[in-house]
Amino acid sequence: MPPDPSDWFTTARHTVQGATLGPRAEQRGRVEEIGDGVALVSGLRDVRLDEVLRFEGGQFGFARVLDPDLIGCVFIDAGTQVEAGDAVFDTGEVVSVPVGEALLGRIVDPLGRPLDGKGVIETKERWPIERPAPSIIERDLVTEPVQTGMVVMDTLFALGRGQRELIVGDHSTGKTTLAIDAMIAQAHSDMICVYVAVGQKTSSVRRAIDALQTHGNFERCIVMVAGSASAPGLQWIAPYAGATMAEYFRDKGQHALLVIDDLSKHAATHREIALLTRQSPGREAYPGDVFYIHARLLERAAKLSKARGGGSLTALPIAETDAGNLSAYIPTNLISITDGQIVLNADLFHQGQKPAVDVGLSVSRVGGKTQAPMLRDAAGTLRLDYAQFLELEVFTRFGGMPEGRVREQLKRGERIRAILRQPQNAPLRLADEVALLLAVQTGLLDPLPLDAVAAFRAGLPSVLDRDAAKALSAIAETGKLEDEARDAVMAAITRLAASLGVKDPAT
Ligand SMILES: Nc1ncnc2c1ncn2[C@@H]1O[C@H](COP(=O)(O)OP(=O)(O)O)[C@@H](O)[C@H]1O
Ligand SMILES: [Mg+2]
Repeated sequence: MPPDPSDWFTTARHTVQGATLGPRAEQRGRVEEIGDGVALVSGLRDVRLDEVLRFEGGQFGFARVLDPDLIGCVFIDAGTQVEAGDAVFDTGEVVSVPVGEALLGRIVDPLGRPLDGKGVIETKERWPIERPAPSIIERDLVTEPVQTGMVVMDTLFALGRGQRELIVGDHSTGKTTLAIDAMIAQAHSDMICVYVAVGQKTSSVRRAIDALQTHGNFERCIVMVAGSASAPGLQWIAPYAGATMAEYFRDKGQHALLVIDDLSKHAATHREIALLTRQSPGREAYPGDVFYIHARLLERAAKLSKARGGGSLTALPIAETDAGNLSAYIPTNLISITDGQIVLNADLFHQGQKPAVDVGLSVSRVGGKTQAPMLRDAAGTLRLDYAQFLELEVFTRFGGMPEGRVREQLKRGERIRAILRQPQNAPLRLADEVALLLAVQTGLLDPLPLDAVAAFRAGLPSVLDRDAAKALSAIAETGKLEDEARDAVMAAITRLAASLGVKDPAT
C-alpha cells in the first residue's frame, strides 16, 4: 500500500523542524591513487578505522589502512567513476547494517539492501558491523545442543550452542551442503539461521537458497550474498555484517546459527585489498593481520550468561583446502581459532561416502557435553568400533575371506559406515537418530544387505511416527531412552527391518 501523503507531510515537517541548520565542519581530502576497488587518500586527519568516506561523485568507501600520510580506502560499491584528484569527505560514521526481525526471510547484500525484489526492509535500528566480542564474565558454558540432523555430526562431533566449528575440505566435497543441512534441521527448532555467502559462484548460492526455501523454514533465515563478482569491499564486510545481524538475536536472548561460506575467499579478498593498499605481505602473501581479522570475527560467537539474557550465537565457518592440505596458512589459522573442525575428504566423497567426514581428523571440543545422554552413550562405542573396523578393513583387503569374530566386526563396521552416510536435505530428528543407533548396536542391521540400510533410514521417521509416537515425545523431552520407550522403538524398527528382508528374530 502506498504511504498516506498527509502522514508523509507530518513526518517531513517534524524532520525539518527538528533539524539544526548551520555550518558543519567537514574535512576534505584528495584521492591520490586509484587501484582495483581501493583508493589511496591524502589530507584527511582524524579518520577512524572503518569510517565511511564519501567521494565527490557520491560513491562510498571505508578506511581500512591508516598510515600517517595516506589512508587506504576500500570502495563499498564498484568505484569505477572515482578518479585521482577527486575530493573525499569523512562522514564521522562507521559502516553499519540494519538489524531486526524484518530481515528474516530475506536475501540481502552486505549492507542490508534487499536482493530478492520483495521491497524495502524496514528496521528500527542500525548496528556497526564491528562489535566487540562478549567478555569472559559475560559468557556461560556451552551446555545446550544444536541438533544438526546429521547422524555423523550429532553422534560423533556434536555441536553446542555458542560453539565455533570449522567445516573444511577441498572444492566440491559437500561443505556448503553440510552447513545448509544443519540450517534446514533448524526448521523445527528455535534457532535463527544466517547464511553469509562470500565470493561464491552464483549457481552455488542459488542452490543453497533453493534448498533452504524448499526444505527449511526460510522465514527464520537471513541470507546475505556477496558474490564473486561483487566489489572487494562488499565481500570484505560480509562476514562482519552477517555476525552483527545474528548478534541482534543473540543479545535478545534468542539463539542464532551463523554460517560463513567461506573464509578462504574472505582471506583472499583481504590479501587483495592489503596488497593494493601497499601493506607488506607475509606468509603466502597474506598480510600479518589475517589471523586477527578472523579471530575477532569468530570470537563474537558465544553463549551468553544469564545476566546477559542467555542467548547464543553458534558459528559454522567454512574453509576450502587445496588437495586436502590442512596445514596451509588459512586452514591452520582457522583450526586454531575454532573449537573443532569437521574435515571433509575428497576421496571419501568420490567413493560415495556422503557427508564425506574424515572421522580421524575431525574433532568437536565442547559439543560432546551438550549431547543427549542416549547419543553420548552410543557415540563412545560407535567411534571405537568404527576406528577398529577402518584398521581391520585395510588389513583384510589383501587377505582372503576373514573368519569368525573378525568377520562379524567387519560386518558391523560396514553397517556403521552405512548409517553415517546420509542424503542431502534430509536431516533426521533426535529420535530417528537414536533409533538408527539402536538398530546398529543391537545388530538388527547385520543380516540386512548393505544397500537396504538407506531404505531403512528413509523409512524410519514415518514408521516411528506411526508405531512409537509416545516414545518419540518421551525421547524429545528427556533425550533419554527409558525402558518403555526403548521397547516401543525396538518393536517398530524390528518390524521395519523385517519388511526389508530380515526375519523378526523373535519368531
Ligand atoms: N550428503 C550428500 N548426498 C548427496 N550429494 C551431496 C551430499 N553432499 C553434497 N552433495 C553434492 O555434492 C556437490 C558438491 O557439494 P557442495 O556442498 O556444493 O560442495 P562444496 O561447498 O564443498 O564445494 C553438490 O552437487 C551436492 O549436491
Ligand atoms: Mg560451497
